Amino acid sequence: MKNVYIANDHAAVDLKNELCDYIESLGFHVVNLGTDEKTSVNYPEYAEKAAKAVLADQGSLGVLICGTGIGMSLAANKVHGIRAAAVSEVYSAKLTRQHNDANIVCIGARVIGPETIVEAFLTTPFEGGRHQKRVDMITDIENRESK
Ligand code: RB5
Repeated sequence: MKNVYIANDHAAVDLKNELCDYIESLGFHVVNLGTDEKTSVNYPEYAEKAAKAVLADQGSLGVLICGTGIGMSLAANKVHGIRAAAVSEVYSAKLTRQHNDANIVCIGARVIGPETIVEAFLTTPFEGGRHQKRVDMITDIENRESK
């Protein structure tokens, strides 16, 4: 069963709890990396923790939730090998799997339609083909930047 690593900040505890059950119902195994408290935390810590968990578990995917999804995506994308997409509708959730081979989806707890976005992301495979070349180009930028 494919693992899905989920993490969130204080803005998204209730939504995260709902999504854990929902994602399990889609046939995935959920690993909850917190936070489970509504006291203020710093989203980059959770983004990094989930990003590293996804990288360490080949074939797994990640779901990051903050108020908008944007802070989580900015932080997760600092981890080499992560392609984290902040999305707010289903079409982009599907296409970022098909074309970008995104390994993390970032959503906003204060944005509408989170269940359908998460389902589209988790159940849509990467298309490969002509898109692989472009994903490889993203990795090339990352590798050149780290020198
Ligand atoms: C927390 O107030 C908020 O800044 C955070 O959840 C997120 O939206 C940041 O991008």
